[in-house]
Amino acid sequence: MSDLHCNSVSPLFSEETIKQRVREIGQQISEDYAGVTSDSPLSLIVTLKGAFMFAADLVRSITVPCCIDFIHASSYGSGKTSSGNVSIRHNLNVTGHHLLLVEDIVDTGLTLQQISAELMAMQPASLNICTLLDKPEARKYPVNVAYSGFTVPNAFIVGYGIDFNERYRELPFIGVL
Ligand code: IMP
Ligand code: MG
Repeated sequence: MSDLHCNSVSPLFSEETIKQRVREIGQQISEDYAGVTSDSPLSLIVTLKGAFMFAADLVRSITVPCCIDFIHASSYGSGKTSSGNVSIRHNLNVTGHHLLLVEDIVDTGLTLQQISAELMAMQPASLNICTLLDKPEARKYPVNVAYSGFTVPNAFIVGYGIDFNERYRELPFIGVL
């Protein structure tokens, strides 16, 4: 059954490859934020739903004090194209915090641009972006990405938390649908 259900997904990155890369990013983040303390920890802001799996693995590779919060972002509509309208829901107060925005995939850049603007309005101490996947060919809105796991082609990607109409999130690998 499981073979059938992911027949339509061509693998790009295996579970092992992802694990290794996530570990490297976690180490890099830990080095870069070596100065944060328990009083002023690194605040991971994870975008739901797509980044949940990435964040769960990433946080276990981060060795500096951190806390985790969530922000819900979705492009209205369904299917493979974004509508250009982003709905953002959260209940955060991040004033004075060191923020690391954790995203699954940067496509046009609209979602991250809007989330960043909302967070910056609350005057955090700092804000950096960490994305598992970057699709640079699709970019329409410039986004400053500090940490990126993999560059992907301009195709529709699923797996490891990333969905097509709420499906395929459970796949342990990443592939093209
Ligand atoms: P953007 O606003 O165009 O950058 O798109 C951001 C969001 O659209 C991502 O956070 C994903 O949730 C979703 N998205 C973009 N490309 C893909 C894809 O290839 N597969 C699944 N979701 C995607
Ligand atoms: Mg997303």
